[in-house]
Amino acid sequence: MGAHGSCSTLGEDIWESKIKSQGEVGVVFGVYSDVFGEGKRRILNQTRRTMVYFDRYVKPLLPNNGTILDAGIGPLARFSVEFAKRGFGVDGLDISKSTLAFAKKHAGPYGKTIQFVHGDMTKYISKHAYSLIFCFETFFHIPPPSWVSHYD
Ligand SMILES: C[S@@+](CC[C@H](N)C(=O)[O-])C[C@H]1O[C@@H](n2cnc3c(N)ncnc32)[C@H](O)[C@@H]1O
Repeated sequence: MGAHGSCSTLGEDIWESKIKSQGEVGVVFGVYSDVFGEGKRRILNQTRRTMVYFDRYVKPLLPNNGTILDAGIGPLARFSVEFAKRGFGVDGLDISKSTLAFAKKHAGPYGKTIQFVHGDMTKYISKHAYSLIFCFETFFHIPPPSWVSHYD
């Protein structure tokens, strides 16, 4: 391990510190999203709009009771819950253990049908195939390999 830790530790450290300092809304929508107390409403609207597109264009392509990987489930588990409501099996993957604890809390009764998985999506190898891999507001946070090598 280098002076700054391995790249996987670096990613996990960043997201652990973000969830602790920014809270659930801040991690999902940015710290300034909640300045006027609007963060939760904006998140709900975005989730609803996204699910309209999912229901219209993506769901018809999926098998009933298929399985979805929510890569970067986030502290609100908002899309995993929507998928579970529609009868899909869901694996919610996140690099941050604290975030997964929040995700379990926010999933409420739907948490029983969601598998909460701790791991790094850049290294994750699943034991089974998915009908869909869903990744929202997360993929663009992953640094390209050329940046990561600075920390090795
Ligand atoms: C901006 S939040 C979005 C969360 C969720 N997709 C949503 O839209 O509500 C990004 C999430 O991705 C997680 N994350 C970041 N890098 C990851 C990685 N390499 N593997 C798995 N999860 C990761 C973070 O811990 C965080 O919970």
